Amino acid sequence: MQIDMDEVLEILHRYPREKRHSLAIMQDLQHHFNYIPREGMEALAEYLECPLSSLYSMATFYRALSLKPKGKHIIKLCDGTACHIRGSVNLAGGIGRLLGIGAGETSADGLFSLELVNCLGSCALAPVMVVDDTYYGKVTLEKLPEILNKYREEAAG
Ligand code: FES
Repeated sequence: MQIDMDEVLEILHRYPREKRHSLAIMQDLQHHFNYIPREGMEALAEYLECPLSSLYSMATFYRALSLKPKGKHIIKLCDGTACHIRGSVNLAGGIGRLLGIGAGETSADGLFSLELVNCLGSCALAPVMVVDDTYYGKVTLEKLPEILNKYREEAAG
C-alpha cells in the first residue's frame, strides 16, 4: 500500500515536536491508516529527533498499536477455556480454509484480520467470535461462511 506522506505529516504537525506526544501521534497514525506504516515511524523519529528503535519498542509494547496492516474487519475468535472446549480450534481451521489466514494474519484482499483472544466474557454462548463490535455466539463451521459472506457482500457494495 502506497502511503501518502502528506497525510503522515499532517498528523505529525498536529502536535508540538516533543517526545511526550509520541504515543498520541502513533495512536493517530494507527487510527488513520488502521496500522502504523514504517514510513510513519521513520517520519515520527525524524520529527521528534528521537531514535527509531525507542519508538518501535513503544509501539510493540502497546497492544492497541499495530505495525502490520490490518484488515478492514477484525475477527476476534475466543480461545478461552469454554470456547476451546466447544471447538474454537475447529473454527480457526474453518476460517483458515475460507480466508486463507491464520491467527495474526490478514487476508490477501485486505478485508479480514484474525486474532485469537482470551475469554470475551460470554462463555454461555461458546464458542464466541466477534467481528468488529458484533458478537456471534454458538458459532459452528456451517455458520461461518454465512457470517463472513455478509462482510464480503458489504464490501462489494
Ligand atoms: S471462553 Fe470464550 S467467551 Fe469465555
